[in-house]
Amino acid sequence: MDLKLKNILPMFVYLLLASTSNAQSGVYDVTGANYGGKANSDITQALSKAWTDACASTSASKIVVPSGTYKFVGATFKGPCKAPIEFQLQGTVQAPEHIKELPKEDTWVAFERIDGLTLSGGGIFDGQGTTAWKQNDCHKNKNCKSKAVNLRFNFVTNSIVREITTKDSKNFHVNLLGCNNLAFQHFTVSAPKESVNTDGIHMGRSTEINITDTTIGTGDDCISIGHGTKQLHATNVTCGPGHGISIGSLGRTEDEEPVSGIFIKNCTISNTDNGVRIKTWPASPAKGTAVSDVHFEDIIMDNVKNPVVIDQEYCPHKLCTPEVSSKVKISNVSFKNIKGSSSGPVGVKLLCSGKLPCENVELSNIDLTYTGDKGSLTSECKHVKPTINNVAKPLACATSS
Ligand SMILES: *[C@@H]1O[C@H](CO)[C@@H](O)[C@H](O)[C@H]1NC(C)=O
Ligand SMILES: *[C@@H]1O[C@H](CO)[C@@H](O)[C@H](O)[C@H]1NC(C)=O
Ligand SMILES: *[C@@H]1O[C@H](CO)[C@@H](O)[C@H](O)[C@H]1NC(C)=O
Ligand SMILES: *[C@@H]1O[C@H](CO)[C@@H](O)[C@H](O)[C@H]1NC(C)=O
Repeated sequence: MDLKLKNILPMFVYLLLASTSNAQSGVYDVTGANYGGKANSDITQALSKAWTDACASTSASKIVVPSGTYKFVGATFKGPCKAPIEFQLQGTVQAPEHIKELPKEDTWVAFERIDGLTLSGGGIFDGQGTTAWKQNDCHKNKNCKSKAVNLRFNFVTNSIVREITTKDSKNFHVNLLGCNNLAFQHFTVSAPKESVNTDGIHMGRSTEINITDTTIGTGDDCISIGHGTKQLHATNVTCGPGHGISIGSLGRTEDEEPVSGIFIKNCTISNTDNGVRIKTWPASPAKGTAVSDVHFEDIIMDNVKNPVVIDQEYCPHKLCTPEVSSKVKISNVSFKNIKGSSSGPVGVKLLCSGKLPCENVELSNIDLTYTGDKGSLTSECKHVKPTINNVAKPLACATSS
C-alpha cells in the first residue's frame, strides 16, 4: 500500500503541474502542430481554430501569427471570451483579391463582442484592394458591392490595438461600432491617394476612443466620426494623403445620436482636400441631432485645400435639397493654434444652418499662408458669430452673413 502511493503520488503531481503550466503559458501559435498553418499558404482554418481555443481559455491567452506572408479569406472572431486575449500578428495576412471569395461581402476581418482584446505584433492586414477600388461606387450608390472593410470592431470594450498596419483595404480600413474604451496606439493606415472610399478609422455609437501616435495615408477621410461618438481623443496623428479629419456627415437619417467630447490635438495634416471639418446634410429629417464640445488644437496644416471647415450645406452628388436648412445643432466648438499652409483660397469656412445657427464657436491663433495662385487667402462665415482671438483679418470671417 505504502509503496504504491509513493509511486503514484509524484506521477499525479507531475500531471497536475503539466496541465496548469500548459494553461498558463496560453500561447496558440497558428503554425504550431495543433493548427498546421504555413507561410505562403491559407491559414483561415488554422486561425479560426486557434481563436476558438484561445477564446475558451480561462486564463489570459495569446494567439501568434509569426512573421511571414499568409493568405486569409476572412473571419469574424467572436467573443465573449473567458479571459483577456492577445492577437499577435507579426506577419502579413493577405485578403483575396476578389470580393466573392470573402465569407461576408462587407467584412474581411471582424472582432466582435470581446472585452480585453490586445491586437499587436507589428504585422500587416493587407486588403489587396486595387481591383475593388476600380469597381467601387459606394460614394454614390447605396447598393454598391465593394463594401469589404479590412478591420471591424463591433462591441469591443477595454481593448488596445497597437503597432498594427492596415493596408489597401477594399473599403473603409477600420470601422468601430458600439465600442467603449478602445485605444489605437502606433497604428498605421496605408493606401494610395487614388483609392476610393478607403476611410482610415470610421466610428459610430462608440465612447472613450483614443487614437495616438498614428500615421494615416489613404484615399478618403483619415478619421471619420459618425453619430453617437462620445469622448474621442486623437493625439499625434499624421494625416495625408486623404480627406482630413471629419465629423459627419450627419443629419441624413432619422435615428442619429449626438456627437460630443471630441478632442483632436497635436496633429499634422498634409496635402489633403480638407483639414478639420464638421459636415451635415441640409434637409435633415424631422428630428436633428447635435454636435457639441468639439476641440481642434495644435494642428499643423501642410498644403491643405480647405483647412478649417464647418459645412452644414454638405450635399455631394446633389443627393439632397440644399435650400432646406440642416437641423443638426452645432455648439461649443473651438479651433485653436492652427498653423501652416492652405492650397485653396478659403482658409476658414464656417457655413452654419440658417434654422439653427452655430453657437459658441471659437477661432484662436489661426495662422495660415496661401500657396495657391487665386488671389489671396480669405474666409467665409454664415449663421455664426465666432469668438475671435489672434486671427488676421482675412481669416476672421472676412465675408459674413
Ligand atoms: C485615453 O485618453 C484619455 C485622455 O488623454 C486618457 O485619460 C485615457 O486614460 C486614455 N485611455 C486609454 C485606454 O488609453
Ligand atoms: C508621434 O507619432 C509618431 C508615430 O506616428 C512617433 O514616431 C512620434 O514619436 C510621436 N511623437 C510624440 C511627441 O509622441
Ligand atoms: C505635442 O507635440 C509636441 C512636439 O512634438 C510634444 O512635445 C508634446 O508632448 C505633444 N503633446 C501631446 C499632448 O502629445
Ligand atoms: C456649451 O458650453 C456652455 C458653457 O461652458 C455650457 O453651459 C453648455 O451646456 C454647453 N452646451 C452643450 C450643448 O454642451
